[in-house]
Amino acid sequence: MSTPGDAGLNGVVDPTTTGAWSALRADADRLEGVELRALFASAPTRADDLRLEVCGIHADLSKNLLDADVVAHLVQLAHETGVEAQRDAMFRGEVINSSERRSVLHVALRMPREATLELEGHDVVADVHAVLDQMATFADAVREGTWCGATGERITHVVNIGIGGSYLGPEMAAKALRRSVSSPLEARFVANVDGADFEIATDGLDPATTLFIISSKTFTTLETMTNAQLARSWIVAALGDAAVANHFVAVSTNAEEVASFGIRADSMFGFWSFVGGRYSMDSAIGLSTMLLVGSESFAEMLAGFHAMDEHFRTAPVSENLPMLLGLSRVWYSGFKGVDSIGVMPYAADLTRLPAYLQQLEMESNGKRVRRDGAPVTYDTGLLFWGEPGTDGQHSFYQLLHQGTRLVPLDLIGVLEPLSDFPASHDLLMANLFAQAASLAFGRTAEEVTAAGVEDFQVPFRTFPGNRPSTLLLLDELSAFSLGALIALYEHEVFTQGAVWGIDSFDQWGVELGKQLALEVAGDLTDPDAPLTHDASTNHAIALYRATRRDRS
Ligand code: F6P
Repeated sequence: MSTPGDAGLNGVVDPTTTGAWSALRADADRLEGVELRALFASAPTRADDLRLEVCGIHADLSKNLLDADVVAHLVQLAHETGVEAQRDAMFRGEVINSSERRSVLHVALRMPREATLELEGHDVVADVHAVLDQMATFADAVREGTWCGATGERITHVVNIGIGGSYLGPEMAAKALRRSVSSPLEARFVANVDGADFEIATDGLDPATTLFIISSKTFTTLETMTNAQLARSWIVAALGDAAVANHFVAVSTNAEEVASFGIRADSMFGFWSFVGGRYSMDSAIGLSTMLLVGSESFAEMLAGFHAMDEHFRTAPVSENLPMLLGLSRVWYSGFKGVDSIGVMPYAADLTRLPAYLQQLEMESNGKRVRRDGAPVTYDTGLLFWGEPGTDGQHSFYQLLHQGTRLVPLDLIGVLEPLSDFPASHDLLMANLFAQAASLAFGRTAEEVTAAGVEDFQVPFRTFPGNRPSTLLLLDELSAFSLGALIALYEHEVFTQGAVWGIDSFDQWGVELGKQLALEVAGDLTDPDAPLTHDASTNHAIALYRATRRDRS
């Protein structure tokens, strides 16, 4: 075991200075050209050795381009970069989001009522449960029809207005859990500042039976506040000013801005600065989820999150699923030249999971400086993208099978059928398992020839294999398993960031675009404003001004 690498400011260890990094570099050389077929043949217990079952998720990592030595060195890398110490610091509520000087306590959102977690002398778990109780009372009232619209009619539709972390999780959960309980409500989502998004979400809705949730941690986000004003006008035009009280609630940390929008204090559901937007779907930001599935199912989802938290907190690195998954990303990024991971849920109900994970992964780990402000000397955050299987098979899987790039996949399936068509489920799962096998083991030229293929076609019909994937099979798609799955990803994101020594909890990279958009917005609406941008931007603005003038 080598000694820890140089610790810089804020306890940052440059991973490339560790003994584990050197060992992994040697592993990469040793495994160059070694095929998965050979790795399976040389280690008969490989499929068992690289399989874990955690919180109803069966994870098979055996089709990854690594062996027992790589795993051992990744575990060593976690030790040398202090991943466990960083994890423990998070659970203790220490200020690990250093660039924003904040604690990171989304894990407190799912701690059981009897738990306590003191932050600056205050028990945050008690606060969390007070808001959960407030949410449950409200959700029950809306679902039972005792909270009505201004005309006394029952609420039938809930429209969540929010963007990024105040949207992607709730929308993903609404689709994932829609069949787990019958709901008296339908949820819709508005995120984009394109007015078409608002039009689509409210199409066919009756203002008298529609409830808007304005979800924004800051309550200042341009898109959300613009759409909130559209919603306000839409309700007021139909029902009058007084109707706002019955048709709007807010989820935010900013009570002042919520009040100035005209939403009553008792219609605001709070959360805290220690919860990052992309880590907030299990906070009050999940109010639309609770309205859809009810407070009991929401509690089951929190229990799933918590079960995975406990696994992450207590399991040794070598048996810790989020850590192993996160470390495998570090391996691919640092030693195999990989820059993207495809996430393919073989479940139509998980159709929005890739979009959710894009923000979670890329906003968290797309960082170019370490926690001490020094530039990293290695690649960080991978690109995450994906589509449900089997759809993707008929579009981009060609590149995955026979292209020149290496794209490891997360292949996600659900053992219990999600639809009333079990025969279709058999075919869905057959495709999932077949894809994992054919990507890994391919088909050699000899096998193609032996199958009677004409010689000239053999190169085209040969599959190189060695295309890695991790198989994640859920027993069922329930509120509990969804919570466990999302916590798995939250913590594998944490693990990557901890090894890379970056702050996975800030997002300064989105600020510049936001500021410039406001400046440009002024230039679009004032036709006489001098254009002081670069020549390309000035041209685009001038073009737009001309069409705008023609419209008026
Ligand atoms: O785009 C940056 C971001 O701050 C995300 O991190 C966040 O999830 C989103 O905007 C929405 O922010 P808010 O909830 O404050 O409206």
